[in-house]
Amino acid sequence: MYTTRAFAKVNLDLRVTATRPDGYHELETIFQTIALADVLTLMPDAGPFRLTSDMPGLPLGADNLAVQGAVAVARELGRDLEGWRLHLEKRVPAEAGLGGGSADAVAAARLVLAAFGARWTADRLAMLLAPLGSDVAFFVAGGTALGRGRGDELTPLADLPDHAVLLVRPGIGVSTREAYGWFDAGPAPAPAAPQALPADAAAWPVFFETCRNDLQPAVVARHPEIGDGVRRLVSARSRLTLMSGSGSALFGLFASDADLAPIAAGWPPDWQVWPTRTLGRAAYRAETGVQGPSGVHHPLFDSTAVV
Ligand code: C5P
Repeated sequence: MYTTRAFAKVNLDLRVTATRPDGYHELETIFQTIALADVLTLMPDAGPFRLTSDMPGLPLGADNLAVQGAVAVARELGRDLEGWRLHLEKRVPAEAGLGGGSADAVAAARLVLAAFGARWTADRLAMLLAPLGSDVAFFVAGGTALGRGRGDELTPLADLPDHAVLLVRPGIGVSTREAYGWFDAGPAPAPAAPQALPADAAAWPVFFETCRNDLQPAVVARHPEIGDGVRRLVSARSRLTLMSGSGSALFGLFASDADLAPIAAGWPPDWQVWPTRTLGRAAYRAETGVQGPSGVHHPLFDSTAVV
């Protein structure tokens, strides 16, 4: 039996810089992993490969990104997943802009690599899985990274110093495709002044002052309650509050866990609230090791060394 975790992300900044002929949007965005995670387990189980979950109603077929990640790696290894079952403990909500499905794809892929004793470079896995979704490649390395293109052309950034995070999901979900459609139908965002990317820990507070999410106004126009949530987090003196990705989740960054207590209660009853933390690249790597029968496997390595 092999177990690992699939951590969620938030976007600390998201600029839509152009629309593309293929229907996608050209982005400049900063991804940040956070400690909220799904748990995935790959276990021997007689019969054809299948996905099960503790979440009622979760689609478990070939359209589930966890299945797609596992199948893509097995195919590349020339192995059959017959006799294995993947189980997904779903903690990261869908339609929230947190990349939960994409993170599951990468976690399932790491499980298959570990189960078959394979060791790949991170780049090889990112290249194989990138077609599954725009933010899938980010979850191979995690931490803090700049995403360009569809969001899949990644440059690692200096880790954001650890922050406490209050993550909030309103009672409604937002489809990514729909959010981009609302963006297209609305006014173009103000041209973005060039931002100097934070080169070290001290540069982040200044950088936060210029952070924005270009999808947020269009999504808030359809779901004004998201705007109410943003105002509440801002008035609690968060260091940065934004909607994440295409929503509907929003987050506030705070200096310490103690800052979260006063703001964690009092949200509408159908909203979900998680006090959590940011997760830097080294912690992400350590925490996404695969727990197997004979210890922890790290099926990915950074260098281009040949195995
Ligand atoms: O790549 P992913 O499957 O996550 O994208 C879902 C949808 O979001 C796409 O079909 C597209 O409509 C929209 N999208 C976009 N530009 C991006 C990323 C996503 O228009 N950079």
